[in-house]
Amino acid sequence: MKIAPSILSANFANLLEDVKKIEKDADLLHIDVMDGHFVPNITIGPVVVKSLRKFFSLPFDVHLMIENPDLYIEEFANSGADIITVHQEACIHLHRTIQKIKGYGKKAGVSLNPATSLETLKYILQDVDMVLIMTVNPGFGGQKFIDSMLKKIEELNKLRETLKLDFKIEVDGGINIHNVKEVVRAGADIIVAGSAIFDSSNPAQTIKEFREAIEK
Ligand code: DX5
Ligand code: ZN
Repeated sequence: MKIAPSILSANFANLLEDVKKIEKDADLLHIDVMDGHFVPNITIGPVVVKSLRKFFSLPFDVHLMIENPDLYIEEFANSGADIITVHQEACIHLHRTIQKIKGYGKKAGVSLNPATSLETLKYILQDVDMVLIMTVNPGFGGQKFIDSMLKKIEELNKLRETLKLDFKIEVDGGINIHNVKEVVRAGADIIVAGSAIFDSSNPAQTIKEFREAIEK
């Protein structure tokens, strides 16, 4: 099980120092890119990813919550993203978009909003490295985990077994030390957590507590 702290809840005026706090304990750095169209919030672009890349070697997990992601894949790839995840809902030609990400030598992920069915991924699962299940409606940190998504994670996990595929399952939104075990038990390989980590008084210690909570 891997932990990907989301910098959405970090202090953007002190981003370098905040990421340093979790650098040694995190497995990936989750970077939320929002365009004010696909989601009602605006965050960061490739220049920030590029700036951070100079200071950190941990894998950058870039979650694109933007319309027309094809237009920006090259820039994010060149900025130092390791995994680029697009939303199924934002891609008219999802297969082409996934191939484009892979064409830059990056891992390709696809994400589903809470109300979007797993069925929509039926013909792309074999092509992706990761599926990101949103457990809140994307746009903001600090929202409540939508409990009915546990079933969706379980179903995806079963589907992966049935189809004998090896994509990773990442889960994002509303995860904390109290519900993380259930999320992992349902089938998550990668846990994203923003507010639970960066709003805590000791982010590195909180990551350790996440790992302990899973082992309990
Ligand atoms: C929400 C983002 C998440 C967010 C999670 O749209 O995709 O990555 O940062 O934040 P928490 O963990 O606070 O729900
Ligand atoms: Zn995210």
